[in-house]
Amino acid sequence: MRLLFFADIFGRPGRKAVAIALPGLLAKYSPDFVIGNAENLAGGRGVNFKSFRQMMEMGFHILTTGNHVWDNREILQIFEKDERLLRPANFPNPPQWPCPGRGMGVYERNGLSLCVINLIGRVFMADVDCPFQAADQLLLKAPAGVPILVDMHADATSEKNAMGWHLAGRVAAVVGSHSHVQTADERILPGGTAYITDVGLSGSFDSVIGLSHREVIQRLMTKRPFPYEAATQNLGVSCVVIDIDSHGKGHAIERIRLSGLESAANASEVDGE
Ligand SMILES: [Fe+2]
Ligand SMILES: [Fe+2]
Repeated sequence: MRLLFFADIFGRPGRKAVAIALPGLLAKYSPDFVIGNAENLAGGRGVNFKSFRQMMEMGFHILTTGNHVWDNREILQIFEKDERLLRPANFPNPPQWPCPGRGMGVYERNGLSLCVINLIGRVFMADVDCPFQAADQLLLKAPAGVPILVDMHADATSEKNAMGWHLAGRVAAVVGSHSHVQTADERILPGGTAYITDVGLSGSFDSVIGLSHREVIQRLMTKRPFPYEAATQNLGVSCVVIDIDSHGKGHAIERIRLSGLESAANASEVDGE
């Protein structure tokens, strides 16, 4: 089984970059499942109906999220009727105010089954439930024999590293998201777990993590608020191709980073924020 995973796809520039690159990637790698992290899909802030539909029409099968999951209220309605969208499983879930959405899904395609788990870190982030214990609990519930991919959405490289080792040999892949900068540490951990600390951004590569650098520098230098804007120059995509063997073990991971896509002849227009 082959998976194609994109981490943070940032705003319209990110959706456009993916729309340009995806046909070639599909033709070259023929993945069975295409997965992406959608937390920044709608103008950098969450997911809305339009951006969700666009990704599905492009050929994505499953979308994960992260700390920006609640930024757009339309996600609540998507969660109600579409199991292809996940949120981090370890958000607090008190019985009187249950957390909308789901943190794990099992998907079928071409006679193949894949389980996807979405987790979020706690280091330099909100104080949610323990992602390590959440992972252990979910593995008990996951259907036996179905390969598992975990999107560990976290800020600290150490926390993502730790999750890789915590799940080594127990899941097919642990892929990191949230940093928006790709790391070059892809490898197969002992026991057959494909791992990368962060898959990286799809969007403008001439940016500060997807945002126009001018406003970010102004904010950092003045300590005053300036409105953030998605950068539009030098579109690129970051993704990984993961091969899983018949025993549900990750046995290969290839890191991909394509830049300068804006001038591609087959650029398809993508509307929305
Ligand atoms: Fe992000
Ligand atoms: Fe994030």
